[in-house]
This record gives sequence, C-alpha cells and structure tokens, in this order.
Amino acid sequence: MSIALVILAAGKGTRMNSDLPKVLHPIANAPMLVHAMQAGTALAPERVVVVAGHGFDAVQSAAEDFNEEVVVVEQKEQNGTAHAVEVCREALKDFGGDVIVLFGDTPFVRAETLKSMVAAKAENAVVVLGFEAADPGKYGRLLMSGDQLDRIVEFADASDEERAVTFCNSGVMLADRETLFSLIDDITPNNAQGEYYLTDVVGLARQRGLGVTAVACEESETLGINSRTHLAEAEAVFQARARQELMELGVTLQQPDTVMLSFDTVIGRDTTIEPNVYFGSGVTIESGTRIRAFSHLEGCHVSRGAVVGPYARLRPGAELSENVHVGNFVEIKNADVGEGTKVNHLSYIGDATLGAGTNIGAGTITCNYDGVMKHRTTIGDKVFIGSNTMFIAPVTVGNEAMTGSGSVITKDVPDAALAIARSEQQTKPGVARKLFEILKKKKQKRALENK
Ligand code: UD1
Ligand code: CA
Repeated sequence: MSIALVILAAGKGTRMNSDLPKVLHPIANAPMLVHAMQAGTALAPERVVVVAGHGFDAVQSAAEDFNEEVVVVEQKEQNGTAHAVEVCREALKDFGGDVIVLFGDTPFVRAETLKSMVAAKAENAVVVLGFEAADPGKYGRLLMSGDQLDRIVEFADASDEERAVTFCNSGVMLADRETLFSLIDDITPNNAQGEYYLTDVVGLARQRGLGVTAVACEESETLGINSRTHLAEAEAVFQARARQELMELGVTLQQPDTVMLSFDTVIGRDTTIEPNVYFGSGVTIESGTRIRAFSHLEGCHVSRGAVVGPYARLRPGAELSENVHVGNFVEIKNADVGEGTKVNHLSYIGDATLGAGTNIGAGTITCNYDGVMKHRTTIGDKVFIGSNTMFIAPVTVGNEAMTGSGSVITKDVPDAALAIARSEQQTKPGVARKLFEILKKKKQKRALENK
C-alpha cells in the first residue's frame, strides 16, 4: 500500500518564547521539522504534505530545502489537529493509499516503529502510536479494551480515573485516506478546548465498528518539544543516539558525551574522535583518521589517514586530502590541502590551494581579504614555507619552492625558487652589553630617588 506522510507544523509554540516558528528550532543543526520529515522517509512515502501556519514562508522553505517535492499547505487558523489534517484534503484527494500523520514537534519516531504501525494496519482501520509515560502530564490518554483502542481522551476532558491511565497518545496516526477523511467529517469541537481533535477519529471509528489498535514505542521516540527545556532534552536524545550509531559503525569516541554531532555528520570506521570535538553541519570524515581534542569542524571533508587538531578549526570548504596533518590553533577555510601536506601550528589558510607533500611553517597566514574582496593563494607541491610567512593574495608559489621565515610574499614565486622578503639583519658588536649597563644604572638611580 502506498503511503502519504502528513506532518502537522502550523502551531505557534508559545512556550518556546521565540520569534522563530517552533518547528524551525534546530536539533543537531537541522530544524526539528526536518528530523520529522527524515523519520517519515523510512516508509518511502509517495507524497509528503506539511501543514504550516505560523511563519508559513520560513516553514515552507525549510521543508522544500529538505524535499523539493513536498506539498506545503496553509492552515490559517489553528483550530486543532483534526482541522490541520482537514486542510490537506485537497492535496490528497487523488491519493489512493494510507495516510500517516506525524507532528513536526515530535521529531524522533524510529523507522522500526513506523513500520510496526504499518504491519498493525493490516488488521485494523486505524493505528495509533502510544507509549507508557513515566510522567503522563497533559498527554492524551489511550483507553484500551484488550488489543483494541476504544477512545482517546484529551487531558483537559479526562476524568480523574482516565487521568490515572499512563498509556499515552504520541500523536502519530495511520489510516487509509478515505476512512480518515470520512471520520474527520464527523468531528465536532464540543470539548474543553473548543478544538477539532484528531484523536476523536478513534472513538468515531469504533462506533462504526472499525478495528482500531495502538502500537507502543519508547517514550524517548515521542518526545514532544514545547519549550527550550524540551529542546535541550531532544538535543541530548539525538546526540546519544547518533553517538551510539557511530560507535556501532566502528568509530571510536574516547569520551562520547563530549562529542557534538550534526544531523548529517558522516564518519568512516576506524576513525578516532578524541574528547570535546564539535561537528557542525556538512562534515564528512573518511576512515582511519584521527580528530584530536577540542577541534571544531563545519562544512568540510577529511580524507583517510589525516590527523586534525588538537584545537584545530576546519571551516566550510576545507578539503583535506589523504594523510594531511592539521595541528593546534590552525584555521582552514575554503581551501584544498594536498596529500600529505602539513600545517601543524598557529596558521590561517583561507581561500587557498596547497599542493601535495608541502610543509607550512608555524604562524603562516594567507592574507586573503583586502578589506573589500577575497583573493586566492596557490602553493605547489613539495614546497617549504618558512615560519611566519604572510601571503598577500592573490599570489602563487610554484613547486619545490621555499620562503624564508618572516617573509611577506606579495609577488609570485616560481618553481624551485627561494623567496625572502624581510629587512636585512644588522649585527652591532658589544652594543647589547653597553645597553644593559645604561639600563641598570637608570634603574639604580630611580631606586635611590624613591627612598
Ligand atoms: C496532541 C494530542 C494529544 C497527544 C499530544 C502528543 C490532539 C487533540 N491531542 O496534543 O493526544 O498526547 O499531541 O504530543 O491531537 N497543529 C497544527 N494545527 C493545529 C493544531 C496543532 O498544525 O490546529 C500541530 C502543532 O503545530 C503540533 C501538533 O499539531 O506540531 C500537535 O499540536 P499540539 O497543540 O501541540 O497538541 P497537544 O495539545 O500537544
Ligand atoms: Ca504538543
């Protein structure tokens, strides 16, 4: 049976206390909406519909960034979860399969869980995802009789007896399109909140004699985010899961709790990540590398055998070839670094191309910005750059060339040449001793005056 994914994301999220629509708050550097959309891809949906309201344009563009084919429908007034599904009626009218409803603020439902709902659908008209809540709070309560789900009661409408139930509604619901919309037709807002509750689908289906069941999942999967506190908890859940997955894939994390990963971080096996490393979005690390402590990586690619850090910063567009070494207090941005090249200490390499087998001395800086425009530095293979060389870009250094320490290189250096650009040394015999004597006398005189 083909599946359409409907993601409800029109709510304001008042408790976030934010100008940003709730579903765009990031977890692991991706909007929570994208996590929800990603969760749904496990079912290979034929169609994806996102319901947006608050911050419509921003939500639409985030959804489209993740999936070009998404249909984003507008829910101008948020009259409840059933009303939110109702506004998708038009977008789904020619769709002949099952519809699964997810919430944009419930981003962590696992693929296996969604698949077990699909399996349960074989015997039931409606399948709801529930969980045993440690603290059921204001969640809707699932009222079961045997393996059938009779009704969902919202907290606001529940009796004390019903509130004592700990099996709760996650919000995820699966039904075929026709049944779902025909049940929605019968929903009224006669309840404590005056809203159209999607949860009423369950009781209405039972009244029609249809089978309804609930599938249970872990509470961590259904974490609904309503506040910054929940957002931080969600981040922790994501990080714990992502670290666990990496370790299962053969990556060593020496101190897992201190490593921050992004939604899209890719790390190959037999790589070691030392403590306190931050992976921003867009990082791919090949196998057999080592990322040493306190490094910050973002939008970069690190090839096999490379060693990065400690205290290194790789910014967007940093491309390290195999066996490159990037050491402490080195920043690399928008630069290709050739195989086996070393930039080991205190350097800034920005808008540059470095060849293979080159050694960049401590304190080297590519001066890429003239105050208005950015310019490129190109350095060849097997070059030796003396410590504290400044490259005033645009500038090119040929293969097997050298620069003298402390040089300010403003002109191109041909292959095999040595460039030195610094003032010549003057050596004055005995002058240091005389200077010391003069200074010491001054100091004595001052001490006497202050007595
Ligand atoms: C809902 C469920 C509740 C469940 C809980 C789980 C209903 C009536 N209640 O309650 O049983 O335990 O989720 O987290 O479904 N939304 C819209 N348009 C609307 C209303 C909501 O798009 O008009 C979206 C929200 O942006 C959010 C999601 O639907 O992503 C859930 O809405 P919310 O108001 O948070 O529902 P709860 O009261 O938490
Ligand atoms: Ca909610």
